[in-house]
Amino acid sequence: MLKHKNAIVTGAGSGIGFAILSKFAENGANVWAFVHKQTSELEEQLNQIAQKNDVWIRPVEFDLMDEGTVKKSVKQVLSESGKVDILVNCAGIVNAKTLGMTSLDEMRQSMNANFFMPSLIMQLVSRKMMRQKSGNMINVISRAAPEYRPGAYAYGSSKMALLWGTKAAGRELAPYGIRVNGIAPGLTETKLGTGRQSEEDIERYVSANNIKRPAQPDEIADTVLYLASDMSSYVSGQIINCDGGRY
Ligand SMILES: NC(=O)c1ccc[n+]([C@@H]2O[C@H](COP(=O)([O-])OP(=O)(O)OC[C@H]3O[C@@H](n4cnc5c(N)ncnc54)[C@H](OP(=O)(O)O)[C@@H]3O)[C@@H](O)[C@H]2O)c1
Repeated sequence: MLKHKNAIVTGAGSGIGFAILSKFAENGANVWAFVHKQTSELEEQLNQIAQKNDVWIRPVEFDLMDEGTVKKSVKQVLSESGKVDILVNCAGIVNAKTLGMTSLDEMRQSMNANFFMPSLIMQLVSRKMMRQKSGNMINVISRAAPEYRPGAYAYGSSKMALLWGTKAAGRELAPYGIRVNGIAPGLTETKLGTGRQSEEDIERYVSANNIKRPAQPDEIADTVLYLASDMSSYVSGQIINCDGGRY
C-alpha cells in the first residue's frame, strides 16, 4: 500500500508510534524512525523489521523538549536525497492534573511537546512537500481532548491546539497537493495509556464505549495506514475518532 514511500514517524520507539512504523514497513514504506533514545535493543528490532520487509529504517534521535534537536534532526532528514511522502507526528507527553494543580511550566511542557514541536516539524517538512507538490501528514491527537475531562488540563488543551492546527494546516497546504489529517485515539494499551491507569479507571473508561475494551496500538496504526495511503485520497482536514465508539 505504501511501496516506495518515505515516511517520518515520531515517537517510533514505543506504543502507537512503533505500531505505525511496523505497519508502514509491512506495507513497503521506508521510515525515518524519530526516537527519544536510541538503544541497541531498539536498533536490533528496527533492523529485523527492515530486513523482513525489504525496506530501510533509519533511527533519528530527537527531544521534543529541545527545539534545537528537533530542527537539527528534521533538517538532517530533509537534506537527504529523495522525497518525504508521509509525516506522522505521534510522539507526545501526558499531564494528568487539574487546572489548579498544573504549574505554568507544566503547561509550557505540554504545549511544547504536543503542539509547538509537532507544528515546527510540519512547518519544516511542508517546505519540502510543497516543492514536491505532494505529501501526507497525520497528527496523533486524542479522543480525550474534546471531552474536557477534569484532570487533564495541560494535555487536553495542547491536543486541542494540535487539532485546530491539523485542520488549519489541512486547508493551507491543500493547494500544494498535501493532505493533513488527524487521528483521535481512545484509551490504548501503551505505557502512556492503560499503563498509567488502575484497573478500576480502565473499567470505568471502557464502560463508555461500544467496544468494551481499550484499543491495541495496532488498531490505531491501521487507521493511520489508511490515512497515509491513497485509500484516503479524498480525505483532508479531518480528525478520525478511533475510540471504540466512545459516548
Ligand atoms: N495510549 C493512549 O491511550 C492514547 C490515547 C490518545 C492519544 N494518545 C497519543 O498517542 C501518542 C503516542 O502515545 P502512546 O500511547 O503510544 O504512548 P508511548 O508509548 O508512551 O509513546 C509516546 C512516545 O513519545 C515519546 N516521547 C515522549 N517524550 C519525548 C521527548 N521529550 N522527546 C522525544 N520523544 C518523546 C516517547 O519516547 P520515550 O518513551 O522514549 O520518552 C514515546 O515513544 C501520544 O501523542 C499520545 O498523546 C495515546
